[in-house]
Amino acid sequence: MHPIILAIESSCDETSASVIRNGKVLNNIIASQAVHQKYGGVVPELASRAHQQNIVMVVKEAMEKSGVMKTDLDAVGFTRGPGLIGSLLVGVSFAKGLALGLGIPLVEVNHMQAHVLAHFIEEPTPAFPFLCLTVSGGHTQIVMVKDHLEMEVIGQTQDDAVGEAFDKAAKIMEMPYPGGPLIDRYARQGNPHAFPFPGTSMPGLDFSFSGIKTAFLYFIRDEKKKNPAFVSEKLYDICASLQHTLVSMLLSKLEQASNLTGIRQIAIAGGVSANSELRQSLQSLAQKKSWNIFIPAFEYCTDNAAMIAMAAHYKFLKKDFSTLDVTPLARMPV
Ligand code: KG4
Ligand code: ZN
Repeated sequence: MHPIILAIESSCDETSASVIRNGKVLNNIIASQAVHQKYGGVVPELASRAHQQNIVMVVKEAMEKSGVMKTDLDAVGFTRGPGLIGSLLVGVSFAKGLALGLGIPLVEVNHMQAHVLAHFIEEPTPAFPFLCLTVSGGHTQIVMVKDHLEMEVIGQTQDDAVGEAFDKAAKIMEMPYPGGPLIDRYARQGNPHAFPFPGTSMPGLDFSFSGIKTAFLYFIRDEKKKNPAFVSEKLYDICASLQHTLVSMLLSKLEQASNLTGIRQIAIAGGVSANSELRQSLQSLAQKKSWNIFIPAFEYCTDNAAMIAMAAHYKFLKKDFSTLDVTPLARMPV
């Protein structure tokens, strides 16, 4: 069996489609939504409307570039959750319509599992079991990956996601959304030890990022009272110090997870895994701890349909299909 699957991602603010043939991703078409920039975060209603506008064009492009005919498709994969309900509904409904029209199966995909499976799009791929730190705008998890579709969350945030901490800090500094990549860029020119922000320590392998967000809010407010130009004058140092604290919090738990489980195959996934300090510090830590590390290409770190296609491929092989009455889920455990 060499399945050909069209996969659709619409959980947040990227509308994406990808065609996969026999486990090889043929393309990954992504339409990002610039409409949210000025609001400091994703506006769900605007996201749903933008998905609605983009989805036909994105799917058409993925099909045309793959050279695959609609009638050659064996299944349609889609993100069922977790995500914004209105956004998910667009992808789910589109996938249902297509599967019904073509008389082929539907394959639902868990977005968080798909972030982990992004590691199987290109070589080298990790061997099982491995640990994956999945860090995005909505999630912060350490996942023990036992097989392609067998995963266990062994640590996670008890409040905000780390991507949210990046984005909210950026918003406090009046940067456009998403602020994570901007903080990363400015941090490169700053001193990571200029401002010692206190990281929150949680028991076990769990994380908490709401404390640092609040501490950051008060810090900026107080410094601006003394000097209204504080943020613009010290921008690089502020970004470098904040980023250093967030990355250290992530890596110290990852190190703890590896020590506890004895697993030294370590992967990172999700939008925040595009962060350059996280990538560099992970590489240094890996040398120290003799870890074998896996970092996906940038294009497969943030939301994309190629990872959904990869997950759909493994589920298709197991004939794990959904019925046409499937509904999206805002929350969906791994
Ligand atoms: O996985 P993703 O595209 O969407 C979600 O499922 O949330 O992740 C988006 C998150 C945003 O919070 C964004 O600010 C963050 O990833 N992000 C970054 C970087 N690139 C994206 N955070 C820090 N540094 C980056 N280079
Ligand atoms: Zn994501």
